[in-house]
Amino acid sequence: MKKLTSETLRKLYLKFFEDKGHTIIPSASLIPENDPTVLFTTAGMHPLVPYLLGEKHPAGKRLTDVQKCVRTGDIDEVGDSSHCTFFEMMGNWSLGDYFKEEMIPWSFEFLTSEKYLGISVEDIAVTCFAGDKDCPKDGESAKLWEKCGVLPKNIYFLPKSGNWWGPAGTTGPCGPDTEMHVIRNHAEADKLNSLQFDDAPKGTFLEIWNDVFMQYNKNAEGGYEPLKQRNVDTGMGLERTLCILNGKSSVYETDIFEGAIAKIEELTSHAYNESEDVTRAFRVVLDHVRTATFMIGDTKGVVPSNTDQGYILRRIIRRAVRFGRNIGLPQGALKEVAAMFVSKYADVYPELKANSAHIFEELEKEENKFSKTLQQGIKEFEKAVSALPAGGTIDGVTAFHLYDTYGFPVEITGEMAREKGLAVDVKGYEEAFAEHQAKSRAGSEQKFACGLADHKEETTNLHTATHLLHAALKKVCSPDIEQKGSNITEERLRFDFNFARKLTPEEVTEVERLVNEQISQNIPVVMQEMTLEEAKAQGFTGLFESKYGERVKTYSIGEFSKEICGGPHAAHTGLLGTFRIAKQENVSAGVKRIKAILIK
Ligand code: ALA
Repeated sequence: MKKLTSETLRKLYLKFFEDKGHTIIPSASLIPENDPTVLFTTAGMHPLVPYLLGEKHPAGKRLTDVQKCVRTGDIDEVGDSSHCTFFEMMGNWSLGDYFKEEMIPWSFEFLTSEKYLGISVEDIAVTCFAGDKDCPKDGESAKLWEKCGVLPKNIYFLPKSGNWWGPAGTTGPCGPDTEMHVIRNHAEADKLNSLQFDDAPKGTFLEIWNDVFMQYNKNAEGGYEPLKQRNVDTGMGLERTLCILNGKSSVYETDIFEGAIAKIEELTSHAYNESEDVTRAFRVVLDHVRTATFMIGDTKGVVPSNTDQGYILRRIIRRAVRFGRNIGLPQGALKEVAAMFVSKYADVYPELKANSAHIFEELEKEENKFSKTLQQGIKEFEKAVSALPAGGTIDGVTAFHLYDTYGFPVEITGEMAREKGLAVDVKGYEEAFAEHQAKSRAGSEQKFACGLADHKEETTNLHTATHLLHAALKKVCSPDIEQKGSNITEERLRFDFNFARKLTPEEVTEVERLVNEQISQNIPVVMQEMTLEEAKAQGFTGLFESKYGERVKTYSIGEFSKEICGGPHAAHTGLLGTFRIAKQENVSAGVKRIKAILIK
């Protein structure tokens, strides 16, 4: 087995597949494009879903990349030796091109050849799909492995729970897979028959790669339809593979984390290996700061907030602050740890360097915000738990108070409670939260709706003005601006959007000028119905709540504005009057609000 650094492994993988006719494509954003089923990109195949479903990819039918991924389902497990919320997935794809017959021998070559990973054939175990009522056994893959030289005793079969992959969200492409593992304990492995893979004690096998043979699309009804185009989707976790190749017992001991560990040691005077608790705190800080760095530094950067991706980011930064405090990480240190990741990844993910000032600023802001209330919140927490019997439950109102007043995400309260053998009434928390929201934010249900409840002429005109404003903001301020909320009354429009700062007076004037220019040209507002994919292909933007293949309504105002929207709208822009921005407000760190009016 070869000892490799992260830099060498990435290059080796991409080169191997480039030599097999693949085009190297860059990692996509961590924030999925127009996919409401998940908050973050969770696998290399995720940004490629439209192409796996048959759309033509401009780079061809054979692709390879290293994709940034985030999975936060196991966030509370981070701190052990293997869990990470961020990871890189190396992968290659056949979009209706090669299939098992090519892929399996290539996987074998990359794993075993001395030119690549150099793993001994005897140390390789594979699992294949055992078959069920929906789909036959994948004996074909097993035969191909055997032909390559994998020992028959090291070929195992598992049901859907083990050898099936996808879809990334609730619907989409999926199929049987074959997973490759390095055998770490031959004595245990040799005790198993071909159906007993899952009975092996932990550590017997280490998973290294997954080849998915996509043949089905899972539809909204839960059925499996054969895909018109058969694809290959593979995924090899970079950190995990480095860990295996270098004989490390934890991903945190690979070269990726070296600089950041040294930085935390310097800042806290603790050694990473000092004790179990210290190691755990180091790992939480390392993982969470790395993930936060990638989220904020992404081309579609996230900032901490109380909803969606912003909430996950807030939660991980606050969890890092809490664990950091346990090892004496001083206030303001998160950005110093982040700087180590920015420089470690400088050549691979240049967006981190380009956005480093913004990353550091957001980390610092969020850290400061939480630090102010952390001590008091802990006191409040202690007070609440001191009144509870052993094994008791923190009630929902208290959990909500800890969140609302002291900034403790309920998951953090839950974790602190578990550390003391207590529980949290999460349902009660949600009820308290909902009650608070109903009181303070009547009308928030309109947040994602681009469609009017009220069809009066004034509101319809303001709705069209909202589309013009949205398009003008994209042109004047940033193409990354997206609608975060909209609310329209007879008197005014209110538009929330992702932007780090308020607009300058010059930007306000320019946005107004652009909108009024469209109004003065009396452009017709054109509605067309089409499928979501057609709309996306034609450059319509919108909050894609719809399922694949569904027909959506689109509204265009010349080439200036193209949005997916329920309507209704003014027939042409000349009906609108004069557009004025009346007010700017701050909704949260990364979300700004504009209130605007139309003067007749
Ligand atoms: N999409 C497959 C995975 O994530 C390759 O394991």
